[in-house]
Amino acid sequence: VSYVDDSPIDSPDCDSGNTNPSAQYDGPLVQITVVVHVIQNTSGQGVLSDALVRSQIDVLNEDFSATNVNSIGVDTRIRFALATLDPQGNPTTGSVRHTNDTWFNDGGSYWNTIAWGPTRYMNVYTNTAGGSLGYVPFLPASGGGSIGTNRDRVVCAWDSFGRTGTGGRFSLGRTCTHEVGHYLGLLHTFSGGCGGGNCFTSGDLICDTNAESSPNFGCQSTPPSSCGSPDPIDNYMDYSDDVCMTVFTQQQSRRMRCTLQSFRPTIAQP
Ligand code: ARG
Ligand code: ZN
Repeated sequence: VSYVDDSPIDSPDCDSGNTNPSAQYDGPLVQITVVVHVIQNTSGQGVLSDALVRSQIDVLNEDFSATNVNSIGVDTRIRFALATLDPQGNPTTGSVRHTNDTWFNDGGSYWNTIAWGPTRYMNVYTNTAGGSLGYVPFLPASGGGSIGTNRDRVVCAWDSFGRTGTGGRFSLGRTCTHEVGHYLGLLHTFSGGCGGGNCFTSGDLICDTNAESSPNFGCQSTPPSSCGSPDPIDNYMDYSDDVCMTVFTQQQSRRMRCTLQSFRPTIAQP
């Protein structure tokens, strides 16, 4: 499949209907400042140490730089750092604790009370994530006026956050990698199933991820070929177990970097 490099097929090149993964998006290293709001309940669930929070940032940096074990993915040249200054300019560890049973259950619009300026910080919250492993409330290309508001956030289930190394299916911190992929504009690799026609305008809007008809789970030794080519079970945007997700592709990387330029122009710094 070919595309016209450096010649946008649409504007922006990473909206909700298409990707133009032009090489113009392969640019300098950029860094996103992160604040992690650790929400716990009054019975002591959700408690996460600073070290665990730091381990999650390490995992993000490994995954986005393709330096994790066995990765054949690309280095997105997107990096993450915990905030060192809070919105008032005071020193911070980059994580904040809150104890609130409603918020722990992902209720109560906590973001309106505790978000740090979402145009400057990527706000990550850990709680039950409403029973999912995590979510973002909208993709930036369809976020409209919500981008940069208090709602704009990444939510990660507290018990799949950080690198705990305890061997569970979601214990390597890659659920958060998946959610940050959404925050930066990526769709699921199984979005739209086998799609059809132009792979830049159907399915996940990306051509270098093979189409797949539905999510893959677990850790399969041989990928199924649900759409006539091996399913991208090693991609962060599929649903494999953490240990088997190791890849962002070049076009996904360019879509994320386009999303930063087009929709989140103030969140990343050189
Ligand atoms: N269901 C959530 C989402 O689609 C979380 C998926 C995380 N998957 C995983 N294998 N860690 O955003
Ligand atoms: Zn997802």
